[in-house]
Amino acid sequence: MDDGTGIANNPYGSTVEIFADESVLKEDWQPEELPEREDELEEIRNSLAPATRGVNAHNLFLYGKTGQGKTVAIDHELDLLKEFASGTEKLELSVVKTSANNQSTSYQLAAHLIKEIRGTGKKPSGIDQQSMFDLLYDELRSLNETIIIVVDEIDSIGSNDDLLYELPRARKNGHLEDHWISVIGISNDLEFRDNLSPKVKDSLYDSEIEFAPYNANQLTSILERRAERAFIDGVLTDDVIPLCAAFAAQDEGSARQAIRLLYKAGEIALNNEQETVEESHVREARDILERKRIEEGMRSLTTQDQFALLSVVALETAEETPARTRQVYQKYKSIVTRLDSNQLVERRVRDHLQSLGMQGFLIAETRNRGIQGGNHYRFELKTDLEATLEILSEDSRIDEIVADLVDIATANGLV
Ligand SMILES: Nc1ncnc2c1ncn2[C@@H]1O[C@H](COP(=O)(O)OP(=O)(O)OP(=O)(O)O)[C@@H](O)[C@H]1O
Ligand SMILES: [Mg+2]
Repeated sequence: MDDGTGIANNPYGSTVEIFADESVLKEDWQPEELPEREDELEEIRNSLAPATRGVNAHNLFLYGKTGQGKTVAIDHELDLLKEFASGTEKLELSVVKTSANNQSTSYQLAAHLIKEIRGTGKKPSGIDQQSMFDLLYDELRSLNETIIIVVDEIDSIGSNDDLLYELPRARKNGHLEDHWISVIGISNDLEFRDNLSPKVKDSLYDSEIEFAPYNANQLTSILERRAERAFIDGVLTDDVIPLCAAFAAQDEGSARQAIRLLYKAGEIALNNEQETVEESHVREARDILERKRIEEGMRSLTTQDQFALLSVVALETAEETPARTRQVYQKYKSIVTRLDSNQLVERRVRDHLQSLGMQGFLIAETRNRGIQGGNHYRFELKTDLEATLEILSEDSRIDEIVADLVDIATANGLV
């Protein structure tokens, strides 16, 4: 297409158009409505509503797996509450939002909140915990009467959770006399919730709201609303959205993942100068994103994690999965022997296997042993075998083993 500007031959000048408004597919785009979360939004609203009646909002805990709309739901309701506050004398509201990501102690979280409230400057440091908390109370006193503190990714704080106990009680304990304070915690780590100390649970949990994983139909509606704005009419073939939704539903039911897939598929079509987005683009997008996910995850694996993973991969190529710990351990021993590397005992290898399960590399299934008591585990590879082999082969330390596995997998028709 030559539009007369002389850029027709510039490689950036794509001849096809796919996106009407690409920004709608970006991570930070805020949807106006969340019909799939009506019930959860209503529960949030009911918990925040006391703030409009001159007392503190309930403390609230939102949990659910990644990409389930927790953050976007809280933002949505807080925006509405702020809008309400700006139109009435009844509510003087301050919202402090922070992600606890990387704030691994109460001390650091308090320092972070102080910086957030001040809006400028460096995080305070070099004082003891109680002084830090006192400094935080000083800052909080400078805010409006009703304070809502949102701590996203609250699980980063781990077991060092004093602040989560103290904050909701700040008024009761006389730290804040003229203010109403409440805390909203958000987490996708379900174990964190179970492991919180009873006193924190007691202090923090007026209500909790679970965000259950989206199913394929819900993901389809979410994608359809995005696609309508994001893509030019008619460029998406009929199978594209249902396929993106199905892939994401099979995995964790994450809306984030579904949206990323759709975006990537659109980009692939565009980069290939195709007029429409097809099913094959979605499949290619899935492979690319899956590969990226494995690569990122692998970077953080320890050597022993890697050997444990390699053992399961070896069983997978021999079509011997799901495999019990004992079987995986046999493979593991032969691998570390071949590499002349340090050998762990079976229990420790099992710990590594379970950690690989948490990180999304393996499916770790627990079976009750019935009459013998206790549980036993069965492991299989969760990530794509071909991509996993390919990425593992890039490590020169294990590349010979991986090359052998590729041969076996090829002979078995698995790659
Ligand atoms: N019901 C929905 N309608 C439209 N978009 C949604 C819906 N639910 C989630 N999204 C979108 O999916 C993406 C992920 O949502 P969000 O960030 O709220 O997930 P989360 O539950 O906070 O995940 P994490 O635990 O990883 O932080 C965002 O881009 C969000 O806008
Ligand atoms: Mg979130």
